[in-house]
Amino acid sequence: MRLIVVGTGSMAENQVSHFKMIDGVEIVAAVDPDPTRLTQFAELFGIPKRFLSLEEAITWGEFDAATNITPDRMHHATSLALIKAGKHVFCEKPLAENHADAMEMTEAAEAAGIINMVNLTYRNVPQLQYARGMVLAGQLGTVRHVEASYLQSWLVSRAWGDWRTESRWLWRLSTEHGSNGVLGDVGIHILDFASYGAATDIDYVFSRMKAFDKAPEGKIGDYVLDANDSFTMSVGFSNGALGVIHASRWATGHLNELKLRIYGERGSLEIIHRPEESELRGCLGDDIETATWKVIEVPPVQTNYERFVEAVTTGRQADPSFRHAADLQKVIDLSIVSERERREFTLLPPVEIVPVHEKEAVAMELVSAGAEKPRKPRRRRWASRAVGQ
Ligand SMILES: NC(=O)c1ccc[n+]([C@@H]2O[C@H](COP(=O)([O-])OP(=O)(O)OC[C@H]3O[C@@H](n4cnc5c(N)ncnc54)[C@H](O)[C@@H]3O)[C@@H](O)[C@H]2O)c1
Repeated sequence: MRLIVVGTGSMAENQVSHFKMIDGVEIVAAVDPDPTRLTQFAELFGIPKRFLSLEEAITWGEFDAATNITPDRMHHATSLALIKAGKHVFCEKPLAENHADAMEMTEAAEAAGIINMVNLTYRNVPQLQYARGMVLAGQLGTVRHVEASYLQSWLVSRAWGDWRTESRWLWRLSTEHGSNGVLGDVGIHILDFASYGAATDIDYVFSRMKAFDKAPEGKIGDYVLDANDSFTMSVGFSNGALGVIHASRWATGHLNELKLRIYGERGSLEIIHRPEESELRGCLGDDIETATWKVIEVPPVQTNYERFVEAVTTGRQADPSFRHAADLQKVIDLSIVSERERREFTLLPPVEIVPVHEKEAVAMELVSAGAEKPRKPRRRRWASRAVGQ
């Protein structure tokens, strides 16, 4: 498989070190508008062809697939260009800035028949895959309650560099630069971690989020620091369970930690994932009488990178797909509206259009949860009315 790398920033180094280890993968070109970065990166990994724009790479065309590791704001235009050129696309998360863009990418990819996957990295955690298998096998009984968190501390620590001076952190703090804050950045990971691990979907959401004061007048250079850096979310799942999901860049003492607890009628599971280790513990069977927790050993799993290569090679679409990421993007869009309007929303039909940012109207499914009973899923329709108007 001839693969090109689009965007050669810090995540590209991580991705390419994984892709290079997979048999049959040849990294044939790199693309980045920053010539210094492009050269450094291509030299580091011995990549022969270098392009300053994706258009040039597409005109050259001698590749099967692309990994899109551009900043969030670029995913939409760059992925659509690759799809139009008939190339398979592995796109970084979040798929897009909003659900409408994510759906446009999903529909274009599906119509073109190309392999489309999104790098929800924590699918690579074997403990998550094993926990999901246990839930699906009924080992926990009915799941009643879920707790999930994604904790980072890069706003208070310099362990990953200084966000005050580095553009790779500053764009993540600014909505004008295409960021939906911690919600769009790692929120998508923890939404996937929680719902995939508990083997259920999110149907209801109520969110609070906050961008704390961090710089004089809330700005550094061109970057207005208005994107949320903490969120808390109360959710209802399709299986009837309730859950709390939260994330913060202010979690002092936690560089990068994901935690998931799934409580069922017959047993519970806890996953803690940190860069240096992951652990799955369970309290099951007779142990629920004494609240005794035991470590559960798990076998290794295929990574997203391996699954993408296998999908391109076999022609069979694999998870997590663009469609799945678009569904999660809907939860993110609704969370932003929930914060603004301070009310709960459901992802069940009907579909309406709601302005997420003042300037734009974003297509999404939305109905006020209010006192209404949940409706049965039915054929989805599109309307152009903003809720509340
Ligand atoms: N899956 C994960 O766990 C994970 C972790 C970190 C980052 N990410 C995602 O990866 C993406 C990149 O993040 P990063 O930390 O590497 O950012 P970064 O700012 O370090 O790198 C982005 C690179 O893309 C280049 N670029 C910008 N526009 C481009 C274009 N049109 N064509 C080609 N290149 C372009 C920039 O010059 C830069 O070199 C983001 O979407 C981010 O959310 C995912």
